[in-house]
Amino acid sequence: MIPSVLPTYNRAPLNFVKGEGSWLIEADGRRFLDLGSGIAVNALGHAHPALVAALTDQANALWHVSNLYQIPQQQALADKLVAATFADTVFFTNSGTESCELAVKMARKYWYDKGQTERTEIITFSGSFHGRSSAGIAAAGSEKMVKGFAPILGGFTHLDWGDHDALKAAVSDRIAAILIEPVQGEGGIRPLPDQCLKGLRALCDDHGILLILDEVQCGVGRTGRLFAHEWAGVTPDIMMVAKGIGGGFPLGAVLATEDAASGMTAGTHGSTYGGNPLGCAVGCAVMDHVADPEFLAEVNRKAGTLRQKLEGLVASHPDVFEGVRGLGLMLGLKCKLAPADVVKAGYDAQVITVPAADNVVRLLPPLTITDDEIAEAVNRLDAAAKALA
Ligand SMILES: Cc1ncc(COP(=O)(O)O)c(C=O)c1O
Repeated sequence: MIPSVLPTYNRAPLNFVKGEGSWLIEADGRRFLDLGSGIAVNALGHAHPALVAALTDQANALWHVSNLYQIPQQQALADKLVAATFADTVFFTNSGTESCELAVKMARKYWYDKGQTERTEIITFSGSFHGRSSAGIAAAGSEKMVKGFAPILGGFTHLDWGDHDALKAAVSDRIAAILIEPVQGEGGIRPLPDQCLKGLRALCDDHGILLILDEVQCGVGRTGRLFAHEWAGVTPDIMMVAKGIGGGFPLGAVLATEDAASGMTAGTHGSTYGGNPLGCAVGCAVMDHVADPEFLAEVNRKAGTLRQKLEGLVASHPDVFEGVRGLGLMLGLKCKLAPADVVKAGYDAQVITVPAADNVVRLLPPLTITDDEIAEAVNRLDAAAKALA
């Protein structure tokens, strides 16, 4: 008999009932050190007092009001994002997938309004992940994502990640946009080298192509900058955001330049819940912390500590681990064993990690993780690795 919850997830037998900072507490009382953050969502950890206060204050005032009316919390969050980034304008969504939908629509509408109605194609890359909607799976294009779901939405050209010649050959006046994650998350924590992102920007500029960055997983302080592309010193035309921006409350956003957003006039897009007062109140509180240069400096310092300790872990367990990669607190342990087994051994040692493609286990701790917790996390990973050996 089919379970009452549609069985699309392979769930671990863990039942967390409470979260406190970097810790998740199981129903049986065990305390797990959370290096997953709900897959890069709980940027400020669990039950951060500022987020709890923002959410409860807003809940006591007003939960929902339609986008038919003014939503001051939405305006405040948009203003913060515009002030802190390349963007001139923001549309709020509830998830990364919805941000992908709008990014694709925005790029195509841009060219349609310019009279280049054939210019609809979007270049994407192997190993990418952009969500599970029809556009999201079509954008990723891998067999795993699209098999069985035909007809697949057209208009995506899939290239091998890192194949510069294929990229140059694919450029034509039918290309509306290039869509890429500055650091691939699901694909196995693969940072795009700064030089490549710079090169992509230059290629887009040369050919009038829009650059869409998917910062759903790598954005909002995760890499030690507010957004990962800042490391390369270039800016996109359109950016997808979600996960960390809500700190655990479902919230996403599409940020864009005035020019890139020019096609999205009244009536061209909308959402019932997107930009609701609860989500935006929490998003404002997240931004107040994460956009602070001192907070980001701490993320970088702690990322350095964690990375150094992980290098030691890898060196001590050459049969289990091959190396460390990533940026900031978006780190991956390349494994010699199946990542699922490493994650499972972590559960036994009461430390939460997340599997990814390319034999990688992801470490995406809360950005608020402390030095003591970093040391404890690596002790627990060491115990997990010993158990595997
Ligand atoms: C890079 C990236 N884009 C898009 C998505 C889809 O986001 P959501 O699951 O919130 O729809 C994800 C989710 O993991 C992601 O990592």
